[in-house]
Amino acid sequence: MKIQAIDTVVSNWSGDCLGIGFFEDNVDLENQLTQLDQRLGNILQELMHETEFTGKSGEQPWTRISGQGPVRKIMLIGLGGKEDFSLETLRQAAATFVKTAQKQKAANIGLQLPHCHEDATASAQAMAEGIELALHQDIRFKSDPEAQKASEYPQDISLFGVENQAAAIEKAQKICAGVLLTRELVAAPANVVTPSALADTAAQIAADHGLTLEVLEREECEAQGMGAFLGVSLASDLPPKFIHLTYKPSGTPRRKLAIVGKGVTFDSGGLNLKVGGSGIETMKMDMAGSGATLGAAKAIGQLQPDVEVHFIVAAAENMISGHALRPGDILTASNGKTIEINNTDAEGRLTLADALVFAEKQGVDAIVDLATLTGACIVALGQEIAGMWTPEDSLAEELTQASQQAGEKFWRMPLEDKYFEGLKSPIADMKNTGPRPGGSITAALFLQQYIEKTPWAHLDVAGPVWTEKEHGYLNVGATGFAVRTLVNWVMG
Ligand code: BES
Ligand code: MN
Ligand code: ZN
Repeated sequence: MKIQAIDTVVSNWSGDCLGIGFFEDNVDLENQLTQLDQRLGNILQELMHETEFTGKSGEQPWTRISGQGPVRKIMLIGLGGKEDFSLETLRQAAATFVKTAQKQKAANIGLQLPHCHEDATASAQAMAEGIELALHQDIRFKSDPEAQKASEYPQDISLFGVENQAAAIEKAQKICAGVLLTRELVAAPANVVTPSALADTAAQIAADHGLTLEVLEREECEAQGMGAFLGVSLASDLPPKFIHLTYKPSGTPRRKLAIVGKGVTFDSGGLNLKVGGSGIETMKMDMAGSGATLGAAKAIGQLQPDVEVHFIVAAAENMISGHALRPGDILTASNGKTIEINNTDAEGRLTLADALVFAEKQGVDAIVDLATLTGACIVALGQEIAGMWTPEDSLAEELTQASQQAGEKFWRMPLEDKYFEGLKSPIADMKNTGPRPGGSITAALFLQQYIEKTPWAHLDVAGPVWTEKEHGYLNVGATGFAVRTLVNWVMG
């Protein structure tokens, strides 16, 4: 599949399927479109009239054009109201169009959409993102080669009105290569994506894009006192891997940042086993934070910003066995703080505790962690919005900007100090689990104990990393959530 910005005008183009975007209640034909309509025997006007097309978002009538004319099919794409027009509108419209073209086996397609905020560069990037993400199909685990067929279409995608924006399209493709890596890591089962497989993926990224990689084995983690992280890995037959991937720019870095991702490759709950209805069968996705971390590393390795970035994943599997962490056990994290384990299913925060301490030792200007940390966050914000906790208004602002540009939704939540009472332990410095109410807040407060002074934000991405319904550029399964936000944050 090839995406290109062409300088042909839409009225002179020939190919299998042409898509044209219209704003709501603004579906008049002008200039080139009038010429196109004349050339195609008034088919545009006829289609609009027949389908009572108004340009509402979601409307996408199409028709076949008979004869051997230059264009075989035409599709009108409703963009909704001009006042709601955003880069996300472009991603969604491009996604809808290419998905339809794919189903109809159109090889050579053209798309005309307006620019958002008169920014041809950002618009071209958004269209290319929508296309790349929508067309991704994960057929790695299908044995039937027939299943592969749908992915042959479309082959050539031409974008009108963004000539000279080849660089923006290339940028989108670099970013999407990161997003698609994340999707494939998260969608792969836990017998494929193990802690070692995450370390191997990091090694591949390092080799492909010139990052440096350090992987701490169990003994080295022991030497660093990472008792919280190692506690989670005790019952697994798979060795834990502490992954530290570093991107350094060639000149002096403008900033130094750390991205820390939860990498629990399977979360059985441990001895507090996930039973009846707690979703144990979905827990291969409990490494989605680390998936996004590695996806962002792949994108950033290609984009080469003037920012130093540390990508950190404490990867482990939360299992049961005679070696398992017990409820009531006390662990000591690498900053010396002691933790009474009152629930082995609150394991993500244990892995992150040592990862955050390690991140801060790198001497960075800011740390962002991402984790499928709590079911409570999904209860609070639903499937499509991630939670954000940070004591730092400026970091909240940076991340909000980055996420809006990416079309990914975050909502800032309170770091309510008083709720730390729920984590008080009579015997250790803290428990790992608070009461059910406010469960995603106490989880964030727990993490905060492992940050001393560096500006830090915690993103609970439990909801948006997975979707059961196909919509826009998201297909069923892993979404690759947060990679584009992270990339924007680092680049911005
Ligand atoms: N990985 C889960 C959180 C989760 C739940 C992610 C559902 C995605 C979907 C996490 O390790 C967990 O088990 N959290 C517990 C915490 C509780 C024991 C305090 C939870 O949310 O129930
Ligand atoms: Mn758990
Ligand atoms: Zn978990």
